[in-house]
Amino acid sequence: MFNTRVKVAALLATTPDNQEVTVMGWVRSFRNNQFIALNDGSTNNNLQVVAELGAYDEDLLKKITPGASLKVTGRLIASLGKGQAVEVKAATIEILGECNPDTYPLQLKNRPSLEYLREIAHLRFRTNTFGAIFRVRHALAFATHQFFNEKGFLYLHTPIITASDAEGAGEMFRVSTLPFDHTPRKEDGTIDFSEDFFGRASNLTVSGQLEGELGATALSEIYTFGPTFRAENSNTARHLAEFWMIEPEMAFCDLEDNMNLAEAFIRYLIQYVMDHNREDLEFLAQRLAEEEKQRPQAERSELGLIEKLEFVLTNQFQRITYTQAIDILLESPAYKKKKFQYEVKWGIDLQSEHERYLVEKHFKKPVIVTGYPKDIKAFYMRQNDDGKTVAAMDILVPGIGEIVGGSQREERLDRLQARMQEMHIPVEEMWWYLDTRRFGTVPHAGFGLGFERMMLFVTGMTNIRDVIAFPRTPKSAEF
Ligand code: 4AD
Ligand code: MG
Repeated sequence: MFNTRVKVAALLATTPDNQEVTVMGWVRSFRNNQFIALNDGSTNNNLQVVAELGAYDEDLLKKITPGASLKVTGRLIASLGKGQAVEVKAATIEILGECNPDTYPLQLKNRPSLEYLREIAHLRFRTNTFGAIFRVRHALAFATHQFFNEKGFLYLHTPIITASDAEGAGEMFRVSTLPFDHTPRKEDGTIDFSEDFFGRASNLTVSGQLEGELGATALSEIYTFGPTFRAENSNTARHLAEFWMIEPEMAFCDLEDNMNLAEAFIRYLIQYVMDHNREDLEFLAQRLAEEEKQRPQAERSELGLIEKLEFVLTNQFQRITYTQAIDILLESPAYKKKKFQYEVKWGIDLQSEHERYLVEKHFKKPVIVTGYPKDIKAFYMRQNDDGKTVAAMDILVPGIGEIVGGSQREERLDRLQARMQEMHIPVEEMWWYLDTRRFGTVPHAGFGLGFERMMLFVTGMTNIRDVIAFPRTPKSAEF
């Protein structure tokens, strides 16, 4: 029977009364042949288990090594030592699984680096840092569903395999069962996908938005929350080939409603983890503060992690247009001193260095940029009357850059078709998407929040590979 066990987090919050308890977990450390620090992933705080001297034979004691798993029964008593309120005075100790200290790759004594931990990502859950990260990740996912549920949005499961390229950027992973060695060819030499599993070229989705629009234009308000895939070869600390995205889509909604929702959503997520994951956030804040000490003064952030999150809760995001953003950049000391690597002029896609200048140096707070040039944005965005810009909005945050991308959608059939033709989007194949504009079209809008980017923001981690359990990046799909 395993379900009589009590989790460490619960035990640590229990008033000791000499009651008998059963606890299971993995050994973090064993001191003086007497004090076992036991952890089961429910909290970073270990439970102290005391094995009375002389009560256990040498053979058993030798097997209590870091990483070994134990079942302990004993009495919960007030701790005599410092650092914990309670401890378990062991009556029986059973080794569930031994852990050879000579071959165990996780030696916590000498603080393994994050880089090393990526190489043993199958074991890194057992560290304090990753324990905190994955508890926060769970909380953010849970809070996401709670937020949209409270607002009456329906959770729509959009397909993972699709035949369309939602973003029109051609960064897709193909899904195929055709043989690699003799692929069937058409007369003109191109691959004959009619012989493929789906009878057509198909791929992993880059976004659930287009299908989300189909749902929203009948159900009013939906959201998706699923994995998305991009074969963009950007080996940065902010890009994954497989990442999770939350995409709400709302009928009867314009750009301003959209921005308001995105802002409220981000605040809700932050408030939720502040309320439910305080201990883990404080641990991560401490970790970040130590990491920052290694950096030159000028590169350190002015606020600690918790202060930064509190700041976001209490301050409105700055809203500016793309044109204003370009003007600010052109006026900036950074531009004048030629500090930007990439060119700045109206029409460019804002680079990470530009985004970070705006949020970290100029406004020192999250910024929502609207009205991007149509030529750097997707075909579905609503065209503004100036003929040059679209009703797009990106949310940029300190330390990361873009965390949300969204827009009001082009609901006018003629405008949408014309834009698709200009951008070489296959209009005939997208008949189903265009039907929403043919039959009872409505103003509607939505956005996508990159879940791992949000994780970076909330945890203060700096590499996106450290906020997803099993990162997929160019040339890397281990585990
Ligand atoms: O700006 P993106 O490409 O927008 C869309 O996909 C729209 N269909 C969303 C919508 O309007 N429904 O991506 C949205 C967000 C970005 O702001 C970023 O946070 C994240 O997804 N993102 C990535 N995160 C990790 N790795 C990548 N390769 C990412 N690409 C985008
Ligand atoms: Mg974007």
